[in-house]
Amino acid sequence: MSQPEIFEKVISHCKEYGFVFPSSDIYGGLAAVYDYGQNGVELRNNLRQYWWKSMTQLNQNIVGIDAAIFMHPKIWKASGHVDGFNDPMIDNKDSKKRYRADVLLEDHQEKIRQKIEKEIDKAAKRFGETFDAALYRTTNPRVVEYQQKIDQIDATLKEGLETGNLAMIKQLIEDEGIVCPISGSKNWTDVRQFNLMYSTQMSALEGGEDQLYLRPETAQGIFVNFLNVQKTGRMKLPFGIAQTGKAFRNEIVARQFIMRMKEFEQMEMQFFVKPGTELDWYQHWKESRLKWHQSLGIKATNYRFHDHVKLAHYANAAVDIEYNFPFGFKEVEGIHSRTDFDLGKHEEFSGKKLRYFDPETNESFVPFVVETSIGLDRLFLLTLCEAYQEEEVDGDTRTVLKLHPAIAPVKAAILPLVKKDGLPELAEKIYNELRLDFNVYIEDKDSIGKRYRRMDAIGTPFCITIDHDSLEQGDVTVRYRDTMEQTRVKIEDLRNMLQNEVSITSLLKKLI
Ligand code: GAP
Repeated sequence: MSQPEIFEKVISHCKEYGFVFPSSDIYGGLAAVYDYGQNGVELRNNLRQYWWKSMTQLNQNIVGIDAAIFMHPKIWKASGHVDGFNDPMIDNKDSKKRYRADVLLEDHQEKIRQKIEKEIDKAAKRFGETFDAALYRTTNPRVVEYQQKIDQIDATLKEGLETGNLAMIKQLIEDEGIVCPISGSKNWTDVRQFNLMYSTQMSALEGGEDQLYLRPETAQGIFVNFLNVQKTGRMKLPFGIAQTGKAFRNEIVARQFIMRMKEFEQMEMQFFVKPGTELDWYQHWKESRLKWHQSLGIKATNYRFHDHVKLAHYANAAVDIEYNFPFGFKEVEGIHSRTDFDLGKHEEFSGKKLRYFDPETNESFVPFVVETSIGLDRLFLLTLCEAYQEEEVDGDTRTVLKLHPAIAPVKAAILPLVKKDGLPELAEKIYNELRLDFNVYIEDKDSIGKRYRRMDAIGTPFCITIDHDSLEQGDVTVRYRDTMEQTRVKIEDLRNMLQNEVSITSLLKKLI
């Protein structure tokens, strides 16, 4: 199956099995807005809970907050979002479609990158075991030429964005011969900047201002609460504040399902440090976050770091953690060393001192910040892309989500083999005991095979089957989703078995 086919399958699987629905579905949907269904919301809650616990529970010096979405409009002036939160857009005159100019170029670079990988694969087959891929990358003329092209595009794009020379970016798109994916033409408009914030009204704000913005990132809610948390929590540097919540961006080019949405959720942590130590902490969080991703059982080769070409106005170092989606490597999380930019600006605009007094040196200063910022929806998408598998079983195809048990929406299905002879009653008894601790499901309709398949499709790690022997012997058959192996387990041991296998603790242990 090709990568685009796999992606299409994941999208339809999401709708068919209650993970993700288009928003306002019965009204024809709303572009780039999605709703999470009964299984999606459980998976998403579990991912969020794992992130939250790994931040606030495993780190003595990180606490959480939940700031409001509505914030004083001056915050967005101070943060630079009113003046600078723009995307460079370009329209194709024939298809009338609008694109982000930098994304068009990044996609073009990705195609060149794929050509490099093809060359390397071919060479690996030709030379066999003695093949040195790293050497080939730096010596093969064609590969070197491709890489130079990628670097040239990076450099020109960076210069164009940093100097605001949008004509230079248009020229680059033309020089590279990039065509509109819809019309196939090169008939482009000029590149222009668009602000991404949504605005709304709140009457009677002080100073006569009434325009509010829906927050485009959760981070500012943390910065404006820095002093509240530091003082009330008696926090000492270095310390962090974590938050999860909705953010809103008027993404003109919404695509790739829940990858780029207008309403999405972020999980962000701002780590406040002494100036001068920020790059060491930046390195620490880079490594720590990659380890977190891999703890979910995702293949290491499906991740890579991508250093930012253009540093945001607030950063002195920035990297993306990218995942190899079916449509190529794309950003899932950003690690940014944000200097003292945000706290400094909020001091300036609010007139309030946002300083930390260091009792050891008797000095007072504005802390520097290292941020980790991950999109929950992108994490959700990569989790599904990684977990989705189709397997041949007895001449049939089974679709299975091989999710880590700790994040699976349903932890176990309790399935009486037949609907008589007291089996449903025993199943009900087991269900009532287990549901106090776990999200379990009970079902007696259809053949056992069909019920197993339905549970495989939503990633339920265990099916507990109650048969006639269960009545006599007090044990049940536990079927493992991934191997489809079956073992007998005493009913009184089920709770402990599930506890060991499906608790978030098993994931947290991998981090310490
Ligand atoms: N506070 C820093 C910040 O907001 P960002 O790189 O703009 O940085 C962080 O966003 C993360 O939020 C991204 O890595 C991505 O996972 C997620 N994200 C950003 N825009 C998104 C969108 N339109 N739809 C879904 N997720 C998005």
